[in-house]
Amino acid sequence: MLVSAKEMLTKAKAGKYAVGQFNINNLEWTKAILLTAQELNSPVILGVSEGAGKYMCGYKTVVGMVNGMIDELGITVPVALHLDHGSYEGAKACIEAGFSSVMFDGSHYPIEENIAKTKELVEYCDKLGLSLEAEVGAIGGEEDGVVGNGEVADPNECKMIADLGVTMLAAGIGNIHGKYPENWAGLSFDTLAEIQKLTGTMPLVLHGGTGIPAEMIQKAISLGVSKINVNTECQLAFAAATREYVEAGKDQQGKGFDPRKLLAPGFEAIKATVKEKMELFGSINKA
Ligand code: 13P
Repeated sequence: MLVSAKEMLTKAKAGKYAVGQFNINNLEWTKAILLTAQELNSPVILGVSEGAGKYMCGYKTVVGMVNGMIDELGITVPVALHLDHGSYEGAKACIEAGFSSVMFDGSHYPIEENIAKTKELVEYCDKLGLSLEAEVGAIGGEEDGVVGNGEVADPNECKMIADLGVTMLAAGIGNIHGKYPENWAGLSFDTLAEIQKLTGTMPLVLHGGTGIPAEMIQKAISLGVSKINVNTECQLAFAAATREYVEAGKDQQGKGFDPRKLLAPGFEAIKATVKEKMELFGSINKA
């Protein structure tokens, strides 16, 4: 059964570790992440962007697939199915389809509008026992064709949004989606410390988990980050393993063209990436 992310993140914040959000794209992705979480006895959050939701034939299809897998694979660790960077309408659609958690990303609106829309969704999610993530300060990089510039959030605005009663808060601290450029300035820990001071026990979310050095991840966790999003790294690992298989000509040997064989190395590569992240985030045996 899907659960809200509230309890797992409250425990993570108190225990000074982070739960990984791994974005899903298809059946192989979902299965790899769920099996790894179960093997490592770790809570997990499955992230679905609006684009990935569309790709997987809509939110109802995603809910059906994930619920079916939890049941058929005997997954007993806590799993939250979460909309990533949702619009207001997208959040409502996911809630209706059966997601257990949503993100409303109002970071591109003026703060008053972000507050008004987030507030409405807090009430909606509270009634249904679902978790809600809000965002202040746009995360840079490209996601689903939307390019942000990588802002550093205003800690006072973070407090205003946190006080609305959201479950978790994503704040821009110089992080970006996708690969980090050579000249990346790194995370703004002063900002993170300030946000944590003002928002207290609120679990903070670090987006753009791909390519952030391990020491920075650990420092971010020590400063209140309890949810870390990873997407691109699984995609890169999947692509590299698939490339290796094809370049070695394995798809042309025997029944190597069978999709169940062709996609197996990529599937294993996702599992290995998720395992590595769960070790780094400290969520193993925290189910
Ligand atoms: P990366 O693709 O950089 O890992 O970021 C993932 C993310 O933040 C999803 O919201």
